[in-house]
Amino acid sequence: MRRLTFRRPDDWHVHFRDGDLMRAVVPHTARAFGRAIVMPNLTPPVTTAAAAAAYRDRILAAVPEGVDFTPLMTAYLTDGSDPADIVGGFRDGVLAAVKLYPAHATTNSQFGVTSIAAVRPVLAAMEAAGMPLLIHGEVTRAEVDVFDREARFVDEVLLGILKDFPGLRVVLEHVTTSEGVDVVRAHADRMAGTMTPQHLLYDRNELFRGGIRPHMYCLPILKRSTHKKALRAAATSGEACFFLGTDTAPHLRHTKEAPCGCAGVFSAPTALEAYLKVFAEENALDRFEAFASLNGPAFYRLPANETRVTWEERAHPVPQAVEVPGAGEIVTLFAGETVDWSPVA
Ligand code: NCD
Ligand code: ZN
Ligand code: ZN
Repeated sequence: MRRLTFRRPDDWHVHFRDGDLMRAVVPHTARAFGRAIVMPNLTPPVTTAAAAAAYRDRILAAVPEGVDFTPLMTAYLTDGSDPADIVGGFRDGVLAAVKLYPAHATTNSQFGVTSIAAVRPVLAAMEAAGMPLLIHGEVTRAEVDVFDREARFVDEVLLGILKDFPGLRVVLEHVTTSEGVDVVRAHADRMAGTMTPQHLLYDRNELFRGGIRPHMYCLPILKRSTHKKALRAAATSGEACFFLGTDTAPHLRHTKEAPCGCAGVFSAPTALEAYLKVFAEENALDRFEAFASLNGPAFYRLPANETRVTWEERAHPVPQAVEVPGAGEIVTLFAGETVDWSPVA
């Protein structure tokens, strides 16, 4: 039985939501990860340093007793964002980064950026301060094929941002294509890419395996197997510009199993199991710690976690769902299946 000891990992892309849903999901991330970059796409979105500080306090109140977990906060970029507030929040240690959602690209992105021209002053201030910009990289025009939206964003938007702000530090979140991998690599001195479990595990066939599978629907959508191959090679390469970001995105079951279902895969309870499976399949367990525990902190200029965790190749069953008292349940990645890896207490 293989065993692996590594520094406690961090998750550089999570959605915690708010209220009862937040209280149900935070413990799953907090048990497995030392820190997490918390996405600001609430309704209304977290757009200011003050709102991020208040949200951080609500998250901390949901962390189980005795669990050591630090939420790292982000601000949601809008056409009206105030550069002084954003960069002030970064200097004060309240904000770790800013999140750019193109308007109407994904869940709760309707308040997002309508044109890069509108946010130039903020990007310039962030560039000067060394504050990272985290990007949901998809164009939103209705005529663009949903499977092409990331590659088109790289060409039509991202390369322009990188050229106009040569010192800006950028994370392409949830990379799903070989084009995304390539642009990260080409700018690795100041760029990084996060990768989700589902995009490393599955290609787009999984959306339709035996029928339509709403719990596999997320944005950016699953792609062809050629892209999955490129992602797996990048994640397991050990290159510093690629690291773990689950994009765990909880939605209640009835909002996904619906005529117009929500986008997002809830992976927090089984994310490390999923990533370990990928690295084991690729014979790259020796590079797991770089991806899960070292590359992320290095990019964010934080120390790696000091404590170690041990996992072993021992199967365990995954429950069907996580209960949200009074609201419903959230279906988990690998629900009802058996996973190969388990933590050693
Ligand atoms: C995320 C969500 O539900 O907030 N959904 C998703 O499919 N990834 C938003 C996002 O990360 O784009
Ligand atoms: Zn996104
Ligand atoms: Zn996300």
